[in-house]
Amino acid sequence: MVERDIEFGTSVTFAGVSKTYGAVKALSDFNLSIQPGEFVTLLGPSGSGKTTALNVLAGFVDATKGDVLIDQNSILGLPPERRNIGMVFQNYSLFPHMNVFENVAFPLRLRKMAAAEIQKRVGESLAMVQLDDLGDRMPNQLSGGQRQRVAFARAIVFEPSVLLMDEPLGALDLKLREAMQLEIKRYHKQLGCTILFVTHDQGEALALSDRIAVMGDGQIVQIDTPDRIYDEPNSKYVADFIGTTNLLEIEHKASSTIRFSDLEIEFTLPDNHEGWGRDRTSVSLRPEKLHRETSTDNQTIIFDAMIEEYLFLGNIIQYSVRTKTGKTLLFQEHRGPSVPILARGDALKLAFSIRDARPLDGETHGSGVA
Ligand SMILES: Nc1ncnc2c1ncn2[C@@H]1O[C@H](COP(=O)(O)OP(=O)(O)OP(=O)(O)O)[C@@H](O)[C@H]1O
Ligand SMILES: [Mg+2]
Repeated sequence: MVERDIEFGTSVTFAGVSKTYGAVKALSDFNLSIQPGEFVTLLGPSGSGKTTALNVLAGFVDATKGDVLIDQNSILGLPPERRNIGMVFQNYSLFPHMNVFENVAFPLRLRKMAAAEIQKRVGESLAMVQLDDLGDRMPNQLSGGQRQRVAFARAIVFEPSVLLMDEPLGALDLKLREAMQLEIKRYHKQLGCTILFVTHDQGEALALSDRIAVMGDGQIVQIDTPDRIYDEPNSKYVADFIGTTNLLEIEHKASSTIRFSDLEIEFTLPDNHEGWGRDRTSVSLRPEKLHRETSTDNQTIIFDAMIEEYLFLGNIIQYSVRTKTGKTLLFQEHRGPSVPILARGDALKLAFSIRDARPLDGETHGSGVA
């Protein structure tokens, strides 16, 4: 076994990390605590600081302020190769003049490991990504998916305690991407290492992560489990970024009555209506939470709509509908024998439960809590 600086599955902490490039704040008081063995994804738009966070942790970029700890020990003084962190980049960055075996062996040669041990380790890593037969191939003789597997084998061959992946599947087509997502899940289980993953694909983040940190302007806007991020976004920014949603404006009337201005409907909230304070100015309503009117109770809001357009998504149909005020909403339903497909121009009544409407405040960003 190689002597490891740090054991498998370690905790990672960013404590008040800032990184500025001249006037640009790539990271601004960035805080994040990752548990040993946890899979955390940074999700955010281009330029929000995702790659910078990985680079500061890996040691390729120095923080302007703050500290980075692995298992409660600051690693800022350690050079990259002593941090025991594996990294997979978006563009594979395989060495073009080395064959597959030598690419994977590279980190071990850097660590001056004995030849027999290198042979064994590279063999194991390539077996894990099912490329044991291709050690002699050059990178340009591989498919995109195979190259990505080599990059992965190279990142794990020295048994890093933390694995960083920066949009590792960005260059792959959808089918291969989904297959690789399953593989990444399998590797994570097998290796037990802590993973910090970066993507701007919300579906990928929801599928893979224990927790998702949504980034905006060099900070974490919300960090939570995939289901809570999806169901309980803390801001318009997160609601809009994670999946498709409808944002409906609300006004507060006397006592516990609210008015959905886009629907021209006043509604008295049920007794227990925590979270509907006067600072809430809109709600997020997922397209699949809208349904055709069936039975009614005092939790249901019903409104008139007209079908504008529809998208056929296999087992799901997504309609865009127009309300009386001219607002366009998305409405999704599963196909079924008793669910006739609606046509453009059809008028119908749509309904949703107040419990499925998530009240939001007017801020574009939530507070940067981690
Ligand atoms: N070496 C650099 N010099 C100057 N500015 C930089 C440098 N690296 C990053 N930045 C700036 O810092 C900000 C954050 O960049 P970063 O690469 O971390 O974003 P990102 O979230 O990874 O974006 P993407 O999704 O496009 O990869 C951007 O405004 C970027 O232009
Ligand atoms: Mg990036």
